[in-house]
Amino acid sequence: MFSSKNPTPKGISLLLALVTSILIELIALLLKGNILSALIAGGVGLIITFFLSQFLIEEFVNRKIKLIYKFIHQTKASKREEFYQNKLLPKQNLDEVGEEVLQWADQRKAEMELLERNEAFRKEFLQNLSHEFKTPAFAIQGYLETLIAGASENPEVRTKFLNNAFKNTERLINLISDLDEITRLESGKQELHVQQFVIQDLILDVFETLSLKTQMKNVQCLIKKGCEQPVVVNADKEKIRQVIINLVDNAIKYGNQDGKVEASIYKTDGATALIEISDDGIGIGEEHLPRIFERFYRTDYGRSRNIGGTGLGLAICKHIIEAHGQIIHVRSTPGVGTTFGFTLPCS
Ligand SMILES: Nc1ncnc2c1ncn2[C@@H]1O[C@H](COP(=O)(O)OP(=O)(O)OP(=O)(O)O)[C@@H](O)[C@H]1O
Ligand SMILES: [Mg+2]
Repeated sequence: MFSSKNPTPKGISLLLALVTSILIELIALLLKGNILSALIAGGVGLIITFFLSQFLIEEFVNRKIKLIYKFIHQTKASKREEFYQNKLLPKQNLDEVGEEVLQWADQRKAEMELLERNEAFRKEFLQNLSHEFKTPAFAIQGYLETLIAGASENPEVRTKFLNNAFKNTERLINLISDLDEITRLESGKQELHVQQFVIQDLILDVFETLSLKTQMKNVQCLIKKGCEQPVVVNADKEKIRQVIINLVDNAIKYGNQDGKVEASIYKTDGATALIEISDDGIGIGEEHLPRIFERFYRTDYGRSRNIGGTGLGLAICKHIIEAHGQIIHVRSTPGVGTTFGFTLPCS
């Protein structure tokens, strides 16, 4: 009953009662010299000390436990709850309390880690954001300053600088509309307007929209042979249009001059279609693949050459596809090409 490592109120009370009763017996024996009355006095002392000390210890421990619970649960119990906790709930032993406190500490630790991660994410996001805004804003300022300082006298320089300022303004506007889109998607406020449509028609529409870009690089955009059979999907057409625009735009941007962009459509089972956009371009290194869907993430190529955008396109795609409860993935080999694939429900 009594263990020195893990003492219980009962064990401590018994030990205390035994010691007290022996002392009482000795004193009674010394005073009266009668063994029987010494034994009776010792026995009565043992019972009284045992129950009294057990009651006092438990009362003390329960008061301390109550304090710990008040701290852990952070809620104020109503009178009824307090009555239930004090009188009706089976009293927990210290081991159970210890376990619950450890669980609580683990929970708090996980919450703290999440907060720290979010904080780091927020800082990185703001840093990226200010960097992305600074570059075109300073460029515009530079061109306008030079024009004001007299460069506007020269018609050739004036046209060039105004064009450059215009291009940077366009970049700023693209950045703002991408940011607007991503914040709306992340806030979860955007509703999906699901409708049925043939995915091949939408892909051909996007190829048409981007035809100026494809012509400039002499890129051939086509639907893979054998994938022409119309597949009807159930999704938000305008949002999926944006996904396909972003993927085909990337395939052209990071694809080769005179290259090929191919769209394939497969029905994986009766209810899901897999849509893939492939290019034969520069590809993406393995080290970048896990982060490619993060906001502002770009490979060195996307950064160093002036072809990369802001790195929000794929993050937007991921949000849209996940809002449909579907998945998006990437396969890529540097020098061979890249394939982005996403699924959609189909009928
Ligand atoms: N098809 C691809 N081939 C090679 N690299 C790619 C391809 N698609 C994306 N990437 C890499 O992934 C990065 C992120 O792409 P994402 O579309 O998010 O941004 P972006 O194209 O740079 O800018 P934007 O916000 O204008 O789309 C790109 O900068 C590029 O480095
Ligand atoms: Mg892009």
